[in-house]
Amino acid sequence: MKLVSALCSALLLSLSLSVNADPIVIKYSHVVADTTPKGQAALKFKEIAEKKLPGKVLVQVFPNSQLFGDGKEMEALLLGDVQILAPSLAKFGKYTKKIQIFDLPFLFDDIDAVGRFQNSPKGRELFTSMADKGIVGFGYIHNGMKHFSANKPLRTPADAKGLKFRIQASDVLEAQFKALDANPQKIAFAEVYQALQSGVVDGAENPWANIYTKKFHEVQGYITESGHGVLDYMVIANAKWWDGLPADVKQGLTEAMEESIAYGNKVALTEDDDFKAKALADNKAKLVTLTAAEKMAWRNAMRPVWAQFEADIGKDLIDAALQANTKPVPEKKGKAKSDKK
Ligand code: LMR
Repeated sequence: MKLVSALCSALLLSLSLSVNADPIVIKYSHVVADTTPKGQAALKFKEIAEKKLPGKVLVQVFPNSQLFGDGKEMEALLLGDVQILAPSLAKFGKYTKKIQIFDLPFLFDDIDAVGRFQNSPKGRELFTSMADKGIVGFGYIHNGMKHFSANKPLRTPADAKGLKFRIQASDVLEAQFKALDANPQKIAFAEVYQALQSGVVDGAENPWANIYTKKFHEVQGYITESGHGVLDYMVIANAKWWDGLPADVKQGLTEAMEESIAYGNKVALTEDDDFKAKALADNKAKLVTLTAAEKMAWRNAMRPVWAQFEADIGKDLIDAALQANTKPVPEKKGKAKSDKK
């Protein structure tokens, strides 16, 4: 009898040890290539999280819509089939209207202004804007400013008239192309190359990293460097899953999240020009550069879209974003003369 009970205890102990030894599996899914800013941030998150929490977590990164593509990934997150996502800010319309702010055309002067808004209190408030849907946000990752591409040169807004453009699942982007008298079509990212190649659509809007890594420049004759909008991401998790994690794991993952996001942002800011140079070096698509006056004409054509979405987004947010276009005055080094006694 003693032997049986000793064996049972040993068995229970070994079972509990093996249960404790199982790492928490964290699936991080996205739709772009490993070499893009988001792709590199996801891999960095894996590296840091597994280093900080050895044996406690196992991070599996799924790029290129391998696990879930657009449309399915948010549902999968809420069902617990994937733990971390970083969807483009254009893809949250079903969950909050506030994040639509990032799609307003010509709202931000450049990517630095986008960053200043994201780091402002109003920008950070958006991390909790989907709390009622069970989604928690951790940070923003840049990709870059978007540029139009098409099978003909787009120099004036009239050039876009009647063309079919692929858009992300965003009502603001739909309105943006309608303002140009063009035909927007919501198409999942994984299907864009095919849609451009086969002529299902005539054009698209993308940052350089996505153009180059998905070879869109090979199936588009012209890229207009319009910088008319931004394509950035919010890193999110299922709030219930996150809240249920042990405190030490949460701590390690929070640090990994912060460090990997900073890394992805650095990649975005430093490699945007490289992606552009590589896309143009292939000599497949021609670059169309706009003068300031030409850019203004695009801005004027699309600006009415702001009014359509102002009530949903909130004027306070739009004002805060506009404020971010003003560069902060650099602090003077040393003491000002008037301070001296
Ligand atoms: C797109 O659908 O164009 C982008 O959201 C893809 C991405 O994640 O950069």
